[in-house]
Amino acid sequence: ASKITIAIDGYSSCGKSTLAKALAQKMNYTFIDSGAMYRCVALFGIRNGCVLGAHKLNLSCVVSSLPQINIQFGEADEKGNRAVLLNQEDVSDEIRQLEVANIVSEVAAIEEVRSFLVKQQQELGSKGGVVMDGRDIGTVVFPNAQLKLFVTAKPEIRAQRRFLELQAKGETNSMEEILQNLKHRDRIDSTRAISPLTQAKDAQVLDNSEMSELEQLEFVLNLVKNKT
Ligand code: C5P
Repeated sequence: ASKITIAIDGYSSCGKSTLAKALAQKMNYTFIDSGAMYRCVALFGIRNGCVLGAHKLNLSCVVSSLPQINIQFGEADEKGNRAVLLNQEDVSDEIRQLEVANIVSEVAAIEEVRSFLVKQQQELGSKGGVVMDGRDIGTVVFPNAQLKLFVTAKPEIRAQRRFLELQAKGETNSMEEILQNLKHRDRIDSTRAISPLTQAKDAQVLDNSEMSELEQLEFVLNLVKNKT
């Protein structure tokens, strides 16, 4: 069967990456977490003093730092995870911290940041056989993707999932803090001027509030059958 491009978009913490990773592993495709790339730019901005306070950025500081940023993904391990490398440094865990999550949507709203990363994402997926998750994959990055999913889940369920994920990494953020961050990011991500989060016309909606990871995988593999 020919290798297709699969775009997975949706709100924060809906399990997009988990699904994309499982799908890529099952199909022997390449998994690309586009959100990790925005998180790398945000982390670089924090380290560079571009963050002025809660949700406040020095925009020109971020834009002028872009040429110094190199983002790479490592090989997938047996669970399908890929290390995220920012200028050769493994930042896989650091980019998940709330400090990064609290400024990443502001960073991702900057036009120059988006064009910088979208270009790289398109190159990474140019040969097909890719599962990429994010906010604008089916609408902007790969508008011709053969399969597009729009994932949703109830906010409390999403906060709970993110809470457990951060807890497993030893972070001590409260449920309330996490829920506030999810709401904040969803608002900025869906209302920004450039490439806001929207459901592509030809996307399949997947509400996974009540679905296990395996059920989701089976649902999508069924859709894939009709596309390859
Ligand atoms: O997917 P994740 O939650 O890690 O993404 C972090 C942030 O990066 C999102 O809240 C959004 O602001 C931004 N993002 C984006 N476009 C993408 C992927 C992520 O704007 N394709």
